[in-house]
Amino acid sequence: MQTVKVKLTQQDYDIHIASGLLGQVGKSLVELGFKSKGIIITNPVVKNLYLKKCKESLEEEGFSADFIEVPDGEEYKSLEWAGKLYNELASLKAERMTPILALGGGVIGDLAGFVAATYMRGVPLFQIPTTLLAQVDSSIGGKTAVNHGQLKNNVGTFYQPKRVLADVSVLKTLPVSQVGNGIAEIIKYGVIRDKELFQLIESNLTALTSLDEEFTEEVISRCTAIKAEIVEKDEKDLGLRNILNYGHTTGHAIETVSEFGVSHGQGVAIGMVAAAMISQRMGVLAAAELNKIKSILVKAGLPINIGGLDIAKILQAMKYDKKNAGGKVKFVLLKTIGEVFISDNVNVSMVEQVLKELYEETQDLRHNRR
Ligand code: NAD
Ligand code: GLY
Repeated sequence: MQTVKVKLTQQDYDIHIASGLLGQVGKSLVELGFKSKGIIITNPVVKNLYLKKCKESLEEEGFSADFIEVPDGEEYKSLEWAGKLYNELASLKAERMTPILALGGGVIGDLAGFVAATYMRGVPLFQIPTTLLAQVDSSIGGKTAVNHGQLKNNVGTFYQPKRVLADVSVLKTLPVSQVGNGIAEIIKYGVIRDKELFQLIESNLTALTSLDEEFTEEVISRCTAIKAEIVEKDEKDLGLRNILNYGHTTGHAIETVSEFGVSHGQGVAIGMVAAAMISQRMGVLAAAELNKIKSILVKAGLPINIGGLDIAKILQAMKYDKKNAGGKVKFVLLKTIGEVFISDNVNVSMVEQVLKELYEETQDLRHNRR
């Protein structure tokens, strides 16, 4: 088992990463001083696959383990569903020291986290992430949120879990597109902070795409250590933490314009290439580094082009506003693989030029799309 510590001023917590951790949830709760009751929040897909194991591990340690089910989908990450969960928690007689266990991907983690942060002004939270993306990203760092109106993640809190339990064995049931979403974020960590990790992934890509347990455990622990280090330095996302958004500005815009035909990971992959191309055109990144990024993404089965999408709409979705931004936009850019910086000095015309090139590259690379 790998353990990564997150050291914050208010509280420290551990991220455990190993195969078979679902069977250790009860022991983990006991270790942290909890007893008698835990409430699992999950969705129907994860419930059918993994609830039994998690529930049994609690019961073995003498816990009663009720569960609450939220339908599967981003649209249920809402205030309406938070309200339903408060009602359920009250009817299950959840008290201030009753831990909530978020068993699922990032949607369940964000929603259950938000509910744990606000029910009775905060009850203990355990994150049990079951997607690759949730294991390397969303379960760590304490961002919890629901979507409200047209806006994503616009109502939320910073609320750290007591522990994160990432069981790598549950990843084997993930659909391939969900694996791709996680791999895009994993490559991102290498690009922004750890050249060695990037090289490790480059040399063992098949072990990662096939979710070899030992290699995946190693990679997840390195990614979570990077996120932990960044969150420790900037818990409230006021500066350094912004670098985690490398590739996300363009990526989110592409997801939106494609009406989510392009997945999050695919959008981030294209966005990472766009940011690297801008860095290269600004003279700060070597062309060879840009090519390494393109190559690893293509080999991982992720797209690096925007064929078929409307460039003007992408720029619009990036909230480009000439008047407000003086013709410049903010980007996370690269000096080299492993070293990024934030620039609010990127010309929109350069972004447009790069998007046009990404469009041109389409024909050759289209077959690499998942
Ligand atoms: P998700 O939670 O929707 O899960 C993706 C799909 O995989 C769902 O259908 C789910 O039911 C299914 N699933 C989950 N585990 C499975 C398993 N082991 N086997 C088979 N199927 C499984 O999506 P996600 O990509 O995990 O998370 C996306 C969400 O995370 C978004 O809402 C995003 O805003 C949020 N997010 C939050 C943070 C943060 O810091 N809090 C960071 C990144 C993303
Ligand atoms: N996923 C970005 C962050 O946690 O800040």
